[in-house]
Amino acid sequence: MRITMIGSGYVGLVSGACFSDFGHDVICVDKDAGKIAALEAGRMPIYEPGLEQLVEANVKAGRLSFTTDLKAAVAGADAVFIAVGTPSRRGDGHADLTYVFEATREIAQAVTGPTVVVTKSTVPVGTGDRVEEILREERPDIDIAVVSNPEFLREGAAIGDFKRPDRIVIGTDDARARKVMSEVYRPLYLNESPLLFTGRRTSELIKYAANAFLATKITFINEIADLCEAVGADVQDVSRGIGLDNRIGRKFLHAGPGYGGSCFPKDTLALLKTAEDYESPVHIVEAVVKVNDSRKRAMGRKVLKALGDDAKGKTVAVLGLTFKPNTDDMRDAPAIAIVQTLEDAGVKVRAYDPEGMEAAKAIMPGILCCANAYEAAEGADAVALVTEWDTFRALDLKRLAAAMTAPVMVDLRNVYRPDEVKAAGFAYTSVGR
Ligand SMILES: NC(=O)c1ccc[n+]([C@@H]2O[C@H](COP(=O)([O-])OP(=O)(O)OC[C@H]3O[C@@H](n4cnc5c(N)ncnc54)[C@H](O)[C@@H]3O)[C@@H](O)[C@H]2O)c1
Repeated sequence: MRITMIGSGYVGLVSGACFSDFGHDVICVDKDAGKIAALEAGRMPIYEPGLEQLVEANVKAGRLSFTTDLKAAVAGADAVFIAVGTPSRRGDGHADLTYVFEATREIAQAVTGPTVVVTKSTVPVGTGDRVEEILREERPDIDIAVVSNPEFLREGAAIGDFKRPDRIVIGTDDARARKVMSEVYRPLYLNESPLLFTGRRTSELIKYAANAFLATKITFINEIADLCEAVGADVQDVSRGIGLDNRIGRKFLHAGPGYGGSCFPKDTLALLKTAEDYESPVHIVEAVVKVNDSRKRAMGRKVLKALGDDAKGKTVAVLGLTFKPNTDDMRDAPAIAIVQTLEDAGVKVRAYDPEGMEAAKAIMPGILCCANAYEAAEGADAVALVTEWDTFRALDLKRLAAAMTAPVMVDLRNVYRPDEVKAAGFAYTSVGR
């Protein structure tokens, strides 16, 4: 199969590299010439475990290449995937489909024969219909089928997720497109990953429903964590106690500072907008968005409270800035609101993140970037553990305490056991315990 991937960001690059690893011939296109030049030189534009090796091996094997030349890449392709960004539209929270429609028009100009255009970007219900309309208007001469194939990979575990997905959702009623998509995913199907064929609109909604459900699960346990604090219960035991029930499941039940990242915040908002447009409200998701928004600053206030009466002029060491470990993605990371709350109260922030420092510095110019956790803790009045990178899981707590002005720890990911932190001389606050 010849596959063309339009957009070489997290999803486009990981999907393209994995498809080529299955044996398909893949060209990844991006309009960002810097990104393509870096990829051609073997440098990854994102941090994702295992990606560099996967790309290198498939480039070497001649199955994977990169270009800015969309026209040449699309000509003759069996399937053209759209994997461009769909950020929140400024002002109203609708998904901004500018990049998707731009890419569609460019594809229309470039196709040379019958092909299948696949939207892998997360797009609201009905987007596939509009993509099809554009293609028909611009190229009535060519048979182009439009398929929805949402992506469920998680940053930080993207390759494993792509190669061993829980399911592959394919939205199309077109028999030829179905055949092409079956061929594209054949290696996974042989691996027993279920292929779920649905209508296109259903497939588009599945992606939003999945993300909204996961965001709800996180937000639910976060509120239960607050209740645990109020009544003297332990949220981790509550999580285990409910998660062991197979109907509930253990995943996404870790209390923390609220969800962030490139997907949940924008996708929950976009779902609300769709619901509004169709006058079919999703009140649960409305509440989730509201609760999660206020939680991030509330976590900043939790740190301020741990600093004592007068926080102004004090220093906090923030450990972990990305929205989760194993990524350098800072989009909508809870750390942003937490740091803002601290700075608003006149607190100085020293910070360390294993991969996110560069992106974080651009968003939070006031932070002092440090080389590791111990350097960040130097002279600090409190340390706030915001992202649970492995490197923060086994800190030398005595060394950390010795570097600080006052040994206070606010563990927003419940990484440590209260007794071990207290034994190292810390005043310790965590979430829901
Ligand atoms: N990041 C994730 O974890 C994830 C997971 C599942 C789904 N998604 C969805 O996948 C889509 C892409 O997300 P991402 O995180 O990979 O975005 P991204 O911003 O990392 O990458 C998008 C890329 O597309 C390029 N691009 C835009 N228009 C183009 C055009 N006309 N031609 C060529 N290149 C073009 C951009 O330059 C950019 O490099 C979004 O809809 C997102 O919601 C993301």
